[in-house]
Amino acid sequence: MYALVTGATSGIGKEMAKLLANIGYDLVLVGRRENRLLYMQKYFSNKYGTDVITYALDLSNPENVVELFESCKELEITVVINAAGFGKVGYLTDTKLEDDINMIGTNIMALHILTKLFAEHMDYGHILNVASMAAFFPGPFLAQYSATKAYVLSLSKAVNYEMKKQGKYVKISALCPGPVDTEFNEVAGTNFALRSISAKKCAYIGLLGMFKGKSVIRPGIEMKAAGLVSRLSPDAVILPIEYMIQTKKLNG
Ligand SMILES: NC(=O)c1ccc[n+]([C@@H]2O[C@H](COP(=O)([O-])OP(=O)(O)OC[C@H]3O[C@@H](n4cnc5c(N)ncnc54)[C@H](OP(=O)(O)O)[C@@H]3O)[C@@H](O)[C@H]2O)c1
Repeated sequence: MYALVTGATSGIGKEMAKLLANIGYDLVLVGRRENRLLYMQKYFSNKYGTDVITYALDLSNPENVVELFESCKELEITVVINAAGFGKVGYLTDTKLEDDINMIGTNIMALHILTKLFAEHMDYGHILNVASMAAFFPGPFLAQYSATKAYVLSLSKAVNYEMKKQGKYVKISALCPGPVDTEFNEVAGTNFALRSISAKKCAYIGLLGMFKGKSVIRPGIEMKAAGLVSRLSPDAVILPIEYMIQTKKLNG
């Protein structure tokens, strides 16, 4: 059985790939950095005897994503992890339009296409979509990123329900971590204002929740509390708090 992991070259996706190889899955690994994919291919096949297929491609281009599905649909894929994604910090009026378009392409479009095609194609299995704590709140200074993650959370919850109604044995889970120690900050141009957890811990909690069939997975007590606060607090309270946290990050 194969697990397909996007965002496999770094952070949460990479740690999930390691855990999946360790429990006996063969892997389809996706990311843009081919050298890292090839290193992982060699490492996993030597260490665990894993069959690893790699695709070095840019997921922000929807044609690449459809081709990816077509190339691996004959494999017995029972786990799909959509971990590829990134954010950019700054006022929407200051960030580059090109970055926004790539972000929407990677965080939303690619994840949407893979969720849709695999949910239809698989007889049984799991799709784990990496959202974020940011999915729960509108996030000034991370406006477009938070909006992409709200899409991921909403889509995942609704399609998981549809799967049950259609009698399909495919579970869709949304992982909503807070800060995780990965390359995310470097790419986003920020620092965390909150305590972070390791990518390994996040990956472990995410996979455990996914195999249990949980619809929404919130790693850590803080994130469970954040989910509750988001349901109880109006935007008039949330927006100034989020603004304060994000500007604090920008100012170091
Ligand atoms: N770190 C956090 O605090 C945090 C918190 C909540 C949610 N998340 C979410 O967790 C997921 C994983 O992020 P991370 O924290 O592990 O960050 P990371 O270490 O920067 O990893 C991001 C991964 O996404 C891949 N990726 C980005 N753009 C891509 C593109 N256009 N095409 C193909 N692959 C692309 C990167 O691979 P290449 O560069 O090789 O393409 C890399 O493997 C993201 O969806 C992120 O939004 C992160």
